[in-house]
Amino acid sequence: MKKEVDQTRGGKLLGVLDGALVSPPPVWFMRQAGRYLPEYRKVRAEAGGFVELCLDPKMAAEVTLQPVRRFDLDAAIIFSDILIVPYALGVPLWFEEGEGPRLEPVHDRHSFQLLHEVLDRAVTGRVYEAIAAVRAVLPPDTTLIGFCGAPWTVATYLIAGRGTEDQAPAKDLMRSDAKLFAEIIERLADATAEHLVGQLDAGADVVQIFDTWAGSLDADSFLRWCVEPTVRIVSAVRRKKPGARVIVFPRGAGLDGIERLVAACGADAVSLDSQVDRRQSRALLGGRCALQGNLDPETLLRGGEKLDRAIDEMLRDFSGVRHIFNLGHGILKETPIAHVERMIARVRRSG
Ligand code: CP3
Repeated sequence: MKKEVDQTRGGKLLGVLDGALVSPPPVWFMRQAGRYLPEYRKVRAEAGGFVELCLDPKMAAEVTLQPVRRFDLDAAIIFSDILIVPYALGVPLWFEEGEGPRLEPVHDRHSFQLLHEVLDRAVTGRVYEAIAAVRAVLPPDTTLIGFCGAPWTVATYLIAGRGTEDQAPAKDLMRSDAKLFAEIIERLADATAEHLVGQLDAGADVVQIFDTWAGSLDADSFLRWCVEPTVRIVSAVRRKKPGARVIVFPRGAGLDGIERLVAACGADAVSLDSQVDRRQSRALLGGRCALQGNLDPETLLRGGEKLDRAIDEMLRDFSGVRHIFNLGHGILKETPIAHVERMIARVRRSG
């Protein structure tokens, strides 16, 4: 039975997560706050460093709100980073301009022993302060999303001390010292669960778990290092916060992997990358959870009629199932703002 809802308590996005068919679908996009926005670049310059920006509650709240104000989106995602968890476990973190994150690598027993057992509240408390500040001014029907990285993805950065093309340092450790690797994943999983509970307590309506590198593992390793830790996290979160809403994003995992993850952890929604076949995913998962995604960020970057066509196809493919309009991965920093406006207007005119 089709239930049309314009606005539910907590907004259209929560409505979709809780079972309503909403048309046109709620819209937000990954990395919606960031360098493609001049107002972001201004605050970023004032903050100095990226970590400083993440940990200044006033500035983090401001950049969280910027895209919501500009585009009237259905959700805000708290401005932070997945690497704040290792930072709050005591790992030095900084960003090299034009290159990306750097961490003091945790790749042997000695460096692992330097990690804190639990998160440093002096760090994570700043994220929770930013969440409370956003919630205080966000319209009640705009959903506030908290997030974390999945342990496997965070471990790829933590073990290498930086981003890698092939995640080789983490895979090497997985093979050479399986016990230590398991302990790293477990520590990250427990800290991550604690961080998600902290975000929900502070006012986040839903949390998204980003597993950016889920696609780089074979089927068995995916079950062991992506699915199992995610189940551990979601169970721990729901023990403390019964009914907590969770979106998972196992990027590149393929439909089989996605289905196993959703079934195992009981996600309310799955964020689909742009490679996933929409019709197959709708047939397999549409009855089980909401589907988020999956416009190719490159298509948004290029704009024009191809963008219009891609939006229309996507809306058609997902019509009749619970859908949250989003990209298949984060927005690219060269994306023209006019393309974003065009996309949102077109989605809002549909339905
Ligand atoms: O979506 C949002 O608007 C919320 C904010 C957010 C950021 N990072 C801000 C950010 C979120 C959800 C993330 C998640 C994140 N961070 C992931 C998983 C999702 C994904 O995109 O794959 C990963 C792997 C990271 C780690 C990370 N942070 C990397 C690899 C980089 C450098 C890449 C780059 O684009 O430069 C970052 C930096 C980062 N995180 C920026 C932003 C806006 C750019 C920093 C800047 O202003 O210079």
